[in-house]
Amino acid sequence: MTRRLTLPDAPSSGNDRRMSAPSARRNMGPIHEVLRARAPTTGRVLEIAAGTGEHAVAFSRAFPGLDWQPTDLDPDRLASIEAWRQAEGPANLRPPQTLNAATPGWHATHGPADMILLVNLLHLIADAEAEAVLTGIAHALAPGGKAFLYGPFLRDGETTSDGDAAFHASLRAQDPAIGYKDIGWVRDRLSPLRTETLEMPSNNLMIIVTAN
Ligand SMILES: C[S@@+](CC[C@H](N)C(=O)[O-])C[C@H]1O[C@@H](n2cnc3c(N)ncnc32)[C@H](O)[C@@H]1O
Repeated sequence: MTRRLTLPDAPSSGNDRRMSAPSARRNMGPIHEVLRARAPTTGRVLEIAAGTGEHAVAFSRAFPGLDWQPTDLDPDRLASIEAWRQAEGPANLRPPQTLNAATPGWHATHGPADMILLVNLLHLIADAEAEAVLTGIAHALAPGGKAFLYGPFLRDGETTSDGDAAFHASLRAQDPAIGYKDIGWVRDRLSPLRTETLEMPSNNLMIIVTAN
């Protein structure tokens, strides 16, 4: 299901279909640092909820040994990803594919992947949808594969700043089913896979999941 949410950092479009999201521009550097240290250097990457495509272009260029498959469910985002790819994409960036990762069983058609990247989706969807995303990720990872899940989370049920509390409340006001997920809840959904959590700028977290 595509929700029309009012978000603080909504992407904007230029003269073509390419969109730009301030949050993607801001978090690109810190996410890149983690990927440089922890991502596989070869193999197939599945990017879920790739949004504007700015991460896909930047990271596929930075990691030429990775075969990068961006996906999203929104037609405008898919068009933006394709426009970025045609303008600046390296050879290892594939044309975007449609994926609603909240549909149970999606891993059967979109896996296996040596790496999965998911940035800023889980707080925008309901618990049952997030559960389908996480279960799909756990099943889609190839043996030894890694998933990188970035975003804002609750810790022991609490937000960690006034800004996060306000954002979480604004999401809940738009749809009571959505909002920040608790980090413990997320880890439980990924069990028995190994998870590690890194602190990221602006109170975000990066959860690194390793498949057995
Ligand atoms: C806040 S944006 C994040 C985009 C990108 N990852 C980034 O960090 O710039 C959330 C994205 O999730 C996509 N999305 C929402 N629900 C989805 C779902 N069920 N499956 C896949 N993508 C979804 C939206 O279309 C949107 O592109």
